[in-house]
Amino acid sequence: MAYANTDPQVLGFLGRALSLEMSAVQQYLSVSRLLKLRGFDEISSKFQHEAEEEMGHADRIIGRMLVLGVAPNATQLRPARLANSLPAVIAVVQELESEVVNFYQQAVEYCARIEDFDSRLFFEQLLQEERQHASSLNDWRQQLLSHNTPSA
Ligand SMILES: [Fe+2]
Ligand SMILES: [Fe+2]
Repeated sequence: MAYANTDPQVLGFLGRALSLEMSAVQQYLSVSRLLKLRGFDEISSKFQHEAEEEMGHADRIIGRMLVLGVAPNATQLRPARLANSLPAVIAVVQELESEVVNFYQQAVEYCARIEDFDSRLFFEQLLQEERQHASSLNDWRQQLLSHNTPSA
């Protein structure tokens, strides 16, 4: 049971964050495995690495929930979205990353508003890392488009 002084909306943000991060793990593992099946081993490893980073985020959220006295319970796992070309695969994960960035932005703003500085810092760190993901995916996609890489 949650400790009495924990804001229920902060717990709600943590629960949704866990669902989003677990969905990201499933998404990245799926595209990684799909690309591997098609023989794109190097790109597959890159997505595998992303999946591991998202799992690290999920792990941190689980840790935070346990510290706050709540049982982790990701209830909204989304189906993975697949695509036929590498730029399309990147576009799908870019969409997910940008949703996650917006979500963490809202969490940070909410925690600032209620002056829960520990939670704000916690979400702020995740926000920075997701911004980094979004920006490196953007660079990667631009690079692929400019070199006209063949379809995966
Ligand atoms: Fe993440
Ligand atoms: Fe991410």
